[in-house]
Amino acid sequence: MASSMSLTASLFCLISVAIFPSFSFAGDPYVFYDFRISYITASPLGVPQRVIAVNGKFPGPFINATTNNNVVVNVWNDLDEDLLLTWPGIQMRRNSWQDGLLGTNCPIPPRWNWTYQFQVKDQIGSFFYFPSLNFQRASGGFGPFILNNREIIPIPFAQPDGDIILLIGDWYTQNHTALKATLDAGKDLGIPDGVLINGKGPYQYNSTLVPAGIEYESVPVHPGKTYRLRVHHVGISTSLNFRIQNHNMLLVETDGHYTVQQNFTDFDIHVGQSYSFLVTMDQNASTDYYIVASARFVNGSTWERVTGVAILHYSNSKGPATGPLPDPPNDIYDKERSMNQARSVRQNVTASGARPNPQGSFHYGQISVTKTFVLKSAPLVTISGSPRATLNGISFVNPDMPIRLADQNSVKGAYKLDFPDRPFNRTPHADRSVLNATYKGFIEVIFQNNDITVQSFHVNGYSFFVTGMGYGDWSEDKRGSYNKWDAISRCTIQVYPGAWTAILVSLDNVGTWNIRTENLDRWYLGQETYMKIINPEENGETEMPPPPNVLYCGALQSLQTQHRYSSGGPTLSGTLKFGNVCLMALLGFILYFNY
Ligand SMILES: *[C@@H]1O[C@H](CO)[C@@H](O)[C@H](O)[C@H]1NC(C)=O
Ligand SMILES: *[C@@H]1O[C@H](CO)[C@@H](O)[C@H](O)[C@H]1NC(C)=O
Ligand SMILES: *[C@@H]1O[C@H](CO)[C@@H](O)[C@H](O)[C@H]1NC(C)=O
Ligand SMILES: *[C@@H]1O[C@H](CO)[C@@H](O)[C@H](O)[C@H]1NC(C)=O
Ligand SMILES: *[C@@H]1O[C@H](CO)[C@@H](O)[C@H](O)[C@H]1NC(C)=O
Ligand SMILES: *[C@@H]1O[C@H](CO)[C@@H](O)[C@H](O)[C@H]1NC(C)=O
Ligand SMILES: *[C@@H]1O[C@H](CO)[C@@H](O)[C@H](O)[C@H]1NC(C)=O
Ligand SMILES: *[C@@H]1O[C@H](CO)[C@@H](O)[C@H](O)[C@H]1NC(C)=O
Ligand SMILES: *[C@@H]1O[C@H](CO)[C@@H](O)[C@H](O)[C@H]1NC(C)=O
Repeated sequence: MASSMSLTASLFCLISVAIFPSFSFAGDPYVFYDFRISYITASPLGVPQRVIAVNGKFPGPFINATTNNNVVVNVWNDLDEDLLLTWPGIQMRRNSWQDGLLGTNCPIPPRWNWTYQFQVKDQIGSFFYFPSLNFQRASGGFGPFILNNREIIPIPFAQPDGDIILLIGDWYTQNHTALKATLDAGKDLGIPDGVLINGKGPYQYNSTLVPAGIEYESVPVHPGKTYRLRVHHVGISTSLNFRIQNHNMLLVETDGHYTVQQNFTDFDIHVGQSYSFLVTMDQNASTDYYIVASARFVNGSTWERVTGVAILHYSNSKGPATGPLPDPPNDIYDKERSMNQARSVRQNVTASGARPNPQGSFHYGQISVTKTFVLKSAPLVTISGSPRATLNGISFVNPDMPIRLADQNSVKGAYKLDFPDRPFNRTPHADRSVLNATYKGFIEVIFQNNDITVQSFHVNGYSFFVTGMGYGDWSEDKRGSYNKWDAISRCTIQVYPGAWTAILVSLDNVGTWNIRTENLDRWYLGQETYMKIINPEENGETEMPPPPNVLYCGALQSLQTQHRYSSGGPTLSGTLKFGNVCLMALLGFILYFNY
């Protein structure tokens, strides 16, 4: 780790790896974290504000795990409101009980702790976690979640000389409570106050635009070395263009899948997306260099302040970065530039992913689609006097208890299994409508964005193939343009305004899985639903049972026993048992080849 995230991690992630006798049949190692979520005061843009910290740090520490590890995170809620952490992209096989959304978990009340436990089965790559309730992500609480490959699985590029994690995102100096109130009042959030990089404001590249005294991120590097930059958009709703002065960025991974490797001088990253780039320090270090994340598809002159600037500092640098920032992309003569860039992101079908077989061995292009869903987003509407966002005319209302918990306790009327597969032209309304999906189905989902801004759509519990995107209204003849060979498999995809994106999903993971926009404003106002997927032949038996510490809420509140803690919280100690790590690695190896 070259960035300051490494310090965060080594000081605050207390990891111990040990054998749990009761679970050890699984043979996979455990990683343990204690996360204490609290408010701290920070001034990323020069204005003091309360932000959400994890173990006293903003952004939070990174979770460092390896394919098939069991991850245990004990979360302590020191906020004054409910909390859930969610782990987008982590597939939680058969275990939506750990997904950390209101449709899957009861919230962790203030002064309670709750332990998440899940396995990161057959996954690699770069992800992040964040608090999912009450617009909290706008105040922080996020951090990286990195899944390393097992040593026996090769990566499709030379081992980089270091890892650099960059969390980028648009930011307001108002806190999440104030922003939420703005939306509730039917107002727009307005232009963000800036873009943060690893929780820090911009380097003062221009004294008119950036006040003095702002702490910025500086990334130390050595000449000639190649680093893996893991860039995550943890922000609110603004698409960003990411670039590094004078440096090529070789795209290698996105959302846990290796891409066909391609050089870019700049790259568009949308809310909720993660990308890895290899960057070689091949410049002469006559100065430091700018790392830039600037607002995309906006009026450059009014959005000038919405620009994140960090510094790439060579160990042999001869002076600070000076002069103008590297130019943003110019779309005036090339309206499809961004979409073409997105279309060029394809999967390296021969590279091994988390398993030794090639990523392309699942020949998705040859599988027949069992059902098509068209999910249409539209500009905000007013429902019962309140501004709401919709999908297919439905603005989602969270059930007051998790969907599967309601099922298992035979609570009637907690939600409806009637989410429509087409937009039709219904009068917009608010409802607890969930999509009835068929286990083992192979579905096509068209996200049609008739809203006015780019929306990023995310599906929990799954990775999907992005087979096409285009402007205008989707129609069946568009299928002729689909990529049936090397479409990228990922979990968060942008849909441009006035355009569609088509994905294919193999429904092999039972549970209830959220489909939402990652744009916080639209999500908060109801642009989401869930897919319910049960295995009818075994009456849902392939789904894991609720964990022993499951929380109850809503009509099931009376089943809840106390989890409140008084004071003290987690003890700051942990053990790293190297012997066990080796033993478990060996065991995992043996089990793997018997699998
Ligand atoms: C958020 O901001 C509002 C309005 O400025 C303020 O009243 C509230 O105390 C703040 N909340 C937190 C948790 O800082
Ligand atoms: C992450 O964990 C792996 C395996 O335990 C370890 O080798 C690596 O050094 C860790 N990475 C960081 C940045 O701490
Ligand atoms: C709360 O933390 C304690 C101490 O680590 C742990 O034993 C307990 O299981 C946690 N509670 C829940 C509900 O996970
Ligand atoms: C700083 O930004 C302002 C506003 O865009 C611009 O007018 C000015 O030329 C910039 N200064 C320098 C030194 O580039
Ligand atoms: C990317 O650019 C570098 C030079 O910076 C070049 O050496 C390399 O071959 C390029 N890779 C690809 C895949 O185009
Ligand atoms: C280093 O690069 C800068 C900009 O590319 C150039 O102006 C300068 O002459 C170079 N210096 C050396 C010593 O090569
Ligand atoms: C951008 O905003 C400025 C200031 O409001 C305005 O003068 C200009 O016409 C706008 N440019 C475009 C391309 O809309
Ligand atoms: C694809 O992955 C293979 C490893 O299987 C690697 O050798 C090759 O360079 C990669 N190709 C591209 C275009 O990224
Ligand atoms: C949901 O779909 C299954 C078939 O996959 C069907 O048997 C069931 O009746 C459907 N439920 C509802 C409420 O439509």
